[in-house]
Order: sequence, then C-alpha cells, then structure tokens
Amino acid sequence: MSLSYNPHDPAFLIDGIPFEQLQKIRAHQPICPTPTGAWYLSRFSDVDAVFRDVEGYYADLGPITGLSGVETIPRDQWFLSEIPEPKHAAMRRLFNTSFGPHRTKEIASYIRTVCDGLLDRMLEQDVSDLHVGYAMPIPSLVMANVLGLPESTSDLFMEWSFDGSLMTRPETPGVKPGRPAVEEYFLAKLNEQRALAEPDNHVFKIFLEARFDNAPLEDQEIITQLHFMIQAGVHTTRGLLVHVVQRLLEDPELFERLHNDPSLIPVYVEETLRHDSPVQRVTRRCAHATEIGGITMAKDTWLEVGIASANRDESLYEDPESFRLDRPNPKNHLGFGGGPHICPGATLARAEAVTAVEVLLSRLHSMEMLPGASYPPIPGSLSHQEIPARLNPR
Ligand code: HEM
Repeated sequence: MSLSYNPHDPAFLIDGIPFEQLQKIRAHQPICPTPTGAWYLSRFSDVDAVFRDVEGYYADLGPITGLSGVETIPRDQWFLSEIPEPKHAAMRRLFNTSFGPHRTKEIASYIRTVCDGLLDRMLEQDVSDLHVGYAMPIPSLVMANVLGLPESTSDLFMEWSFDGSLMTRPETPGVKPGRPAVEEYFLAKLNEQRALAEPDNHVFKIFLEARFDNAPLEDQEIITQLHFMIQAGVHTTRGLLVHVVQRLLEDPELFERLHNDPSLIPVYVEETLRHDSPVQRVTRRCAHATEIGGITMAKDTWLEVGIASANRDESLYEDPESFRLDRPNPKNHLGFGGGPHICPGATLARAEAVTAVEVLLSRLHSMEMLPGASYPPIPGSLSHQEIPARLNPR
C-alpha cells in the first residue's frame, strides 16, 4: 500500500480532517510523503522525538509567510521558532517574562471581564455568532492587554488576522510599504517608547533592555518578535476557543455535566487540545542527512510534524478517536508542541479557554443550535465560519 497525505488540503476547512485516513497512515505508512515533497510524521513517538532534537531538526515558517524557506529570509526577520540555539533560549526568556504564568495571573480578572462583557452583548441579540461575538475577540483583547496596548489595538489584530497580513513578513512578495501593517504599528510604538526617558510599557522595556553578547537588539529584531507574539497567540487561541464553545453548543449533555461539575472544565480544555488540536501540524527541516523510521532524508528535507495525528495515536491513547473526560493524564498531548520550543503561551491560552467556558456555563441555562444552519467541522479552527446560537440565560 502506498499512501500520501496533504496536510494543506483546503477541503479540510469545509469537510473536516480525514482522521480515518490518518489512522490508516499511522498503521501502514507512519512516515508518509506529501504532494510537495515533504514527509508527514504521524506517530506520537516520531513527532515527540523531532520536537526534542533541536540540533537535528530546525523550524522554518517560510512557507506560511509566502516564502520558500529561512535561507531566503534576512536573519532579523526570523521568528523565535526559527532562531537557532543558544540565541533561541535567550530570546525565549524575553517572551516568558512578557506573557508567561506570572503575567497570566495578573490579568486573570481582566480575562473574566472580557468574557462577561462579550456575553452581555451577545445576550442582547436573538441569535448570536459564537465565533465573531466570543471566540474571536477574546484572544485579541487579551493579547492587547498583555502587551500593555490600548484596547482598540485588538480591532487591528483581528483586521490583520482577517486580511492575512499577519502571515507576511517584510520579505514576503507584494508587501507594502516595506513591512506588514503589524510591524509598522510596532515600529511606531518602539520609537515612542525609545523617546521616553524610561519606557513605560513593560514588554517594550524588556526588549529594549535585552543584551545579547553585550549588544542591544536591532529595531527589526524587536518588531519581528512582537509581530510573532500576535501571529502565534491570536489565531491559535481563537481555534481553541472555537472548539470549546462549539462542542458545548452541539452537546447539551456535556454542557449540563460541566455545569454540574466545573472542576471538569480544565480537563475538557485539555481533551479539546488533544482531540481537536488547534495547531494540526508544524514544520521542521533536517539539519543534516538523517534517517527516520527507515527512510533516508537529505539535509534540509521538509517534515510536516503531525500533531493532530500524534494526539490520536492508538499506541498511547485508549480509544483515541473518542472525546473523553476520564483520561488518566489529560495533559499528556502535543497540542502545544514539545521540547525546547514548547508553546510559551500555553498558560495564557488555557486560562482564556477555561474562563470562556466558565462564564458561559455559569450564566447560561442552555445554548441552542439553529435548525437548518450549517456549522464548521470540529476541528476546523482556521476557517472564519459562523457558529450561530440561541443563548438562554439562567
Ligand atoms: C490554544 C492556543 C495555542 C496553541 C494550540 C499553540 C500551539 C503552539 C505550538 C504547537 C507551538 C510549537 C511550534 C513548533 O514547535 O514549531 C507553539 C509555539 C509558540 N507559541 Fe503557542 N499556541 C497557543 C497559544 C499561544 C499564545 C497565547 C502565545 C502568546 C501569547 C503563543 C506563543 C507561542 C510562541 C512565541 C511559540 C514559539 C516558541 C519557541 O519557538 O520557542 N502561543 N505554540
């Protein structure tokens, strides 16, 4: 049997991910060719090993920004994921200080206020869209707050997410006037902060005061990383939120169960990250000629690292295709990646998802799907489809 898999098939947004095909691939051809000449890794053990081996495999987000690969991109435009060690670890500390667990704690009550405010607005309508009215604005508003930016900035984050410019870099063909709008915005802010005797924004201060080999970061390096925070933190969390709210809408029994036992909400969020991974795959390239699972790979070969498939690997999970709240170790999944590049925004994303669900369950008696309406597949996070619902307050 010779199988192939195209993780970029646009039909998946409409029809859903073909998990039966992934099951076959794991069983018969776990390292499977893709139409673009890459290899798709489908098993947990291979995905996990590649995440851990940062000397053997490097990340390259060139193609998702309209470019062929990092070799064509100036180094000051390399996102955190693409920066090799030891600079990666040092740069990553700046990210952790900007929005890690301590910062998430500080803004916990803001996240709740955001969710409550959005629900208030949805309750004024006969029919609400849980996507545009709830899942989409939460991460943008929270991200603006985390970065100490005005609330209105969140509208810009959503605009750049919709128009796709968030996924470009200065080097991407056709980008005008020289850099994407998000970077123009951060450059202007950076200049404002630099003009002050002491920066009054904690994130800009962290980046302006950082030293690598005794030298400060260049402007382009700083705005590249601020841009990446938005790119990495807004789309992805929207995906998670879409999945948790849509499943609650589609499954009234689950709604009731979580309402009666809110201690299950964090478990619900973890099972969503496993079963409906918002990031379905990431890329790596081989740093040198190597062999995985008996397949010889030349230096720079592209790998599609199949998080979605690994998270349903039957060698690790009992009954992996089922959505269950009784798994022995709910956090045992690769939804946030693994190894030294594991997501530094995981605490923040979990806090947003748990709070968003808590607010719906505590204030609503039920949510009803609309007869005749069409709903996106789960997982289907990267589409912008509506999730229409009738919300009944308690
Ligand atoms: C549910 C929401 C999220 C999911 C599913 C998610 C998923 C991931 C995954 C799978 C990776 C690993 C990428 C790789 O190894 O190639 C990653 C890395 C990253 N994530 Fe997240 N993420 C989420 C939310 C966030 C948030 C809220 C932020 C920022 C506030 C963020 C910032 C980052 C950054 C900066 C990296 C790169 C880390 C590194 O290379 O060291 N993410 N994320």
